Amino acid sequence: MAKPENKLSTATPLTPKKRAILVGASSGIGAALAQRLADEGYQIALLARRGKMLEKLTNEINQKHGETRAVYYIHDVTDHESVPELLKKIIADLGGLDTFIYNAGISFMVGLKKYDFEKDHQTFDVNVTGALAWFNPVAELFQSLKSGQIVGVSSVAGERGRVGNPSYNASKAALTCYLEALRNRLTRYGVNVLTVKPGPVETDMIKDAKGVLFPISAEQAAGDIFNAMRKRKQEVYTSARWRWIMLVLRNIPSIIFRKMTF
Ligand SMILES: NC(=O)c1ccc[n+]([C@@H]2O[C@H](COP(=O)([O-])OP(=O)(O)OC[C@H]3O[C@@H](n4cnc5c(N)ncnc54)[C@H](OP(=O)(O)O)[C@@H]3O)[C@@H](O)[C@H]2O)c1
Repeated sequence: MAKPENKLSTATPLTPKKRAILVGASSGIGAALAQRLADEGYQIALLARRGKMLEKLTNEINQKHGETRAVYYIHDVTDHESVPELLKKIIADLGGLDTFIYNAGISFMVGLKKYDFEKDHQTFDVNVTGALAWFNPVAELFQSLKSGQIVGVSSVAGERGRVGNPSYNASKAALTCYLEALRNRLTRYGVNVLTVKPGPVETDMIKDAKGVLFPISAEQAAGDIFNAMRKRKQEVYTSARWRWIMLVLRNIPSIIFRKMTF
């Protein structure tokens, strides 16, 4: 279901505007990135399930800038069939599309000795299948336009299978791999594909987690993501120290890694 709020101001050759879709915009990293993109002059379509949060964020952005820079659409990414029509509608509302960001994600805490297929299934549905439902038509569009930028928010969690959250790790590994393949297809058409790998970020997702290492704010993560977008990078760790931490973690031999309890 879509619910555009106000009319966006029209871009003209003398006042060009970047137009972006941000899926998973209602809280945390997505909400902070929405604010940052609006500050940078983007016109953005904000998508998620929680309409009240989207409405509040949209109003905040538009009041801050004194014009309509954000519109919102209530959407559940597990409703894959609705994506092609919704994408068409949003592109018409925005008057085009330059950037697509998939940030929606869920993570369930499952006890170290527990197995839960229902939660695993939901995790894959949101973190992977929902992403593919959007990436496919957007990739096709950008390929034909020979321009555009695709951003996928994956995780450092996708770099190793850990005992704590196997399906989340596996879902982010799948997303990272898919984004790499998309990049390899689309770079030749001038389309940039950025994979974002956050370490711990202080959002609702990790509010119950204990002893997290080097957490950063959602605003800092959004700043790192925006800078990487601006430089048209292929991959960004946020914070940057996670590049080096993961270099070490990736190289810990399995015989040692399997004894760890995180
Ligand atoms: N926080 C961390 O430490 C961390 C670390 C690495 C990676 N990440 C990744 O960063 C991304 C953002 O997470 P966050 O930390 O900012 O957590 P968050 O505040 O819980 O944000 C998750 C976002 O995903 C949306 N979402 C979830 N299920 C959805 C569905 N079925 N349909 C549409 N939207 C859905 C949520 O919106 P609604 O609930 O309103 O639908 C929300 O906007 C996720 O992909 C996460 O895996 C986070």
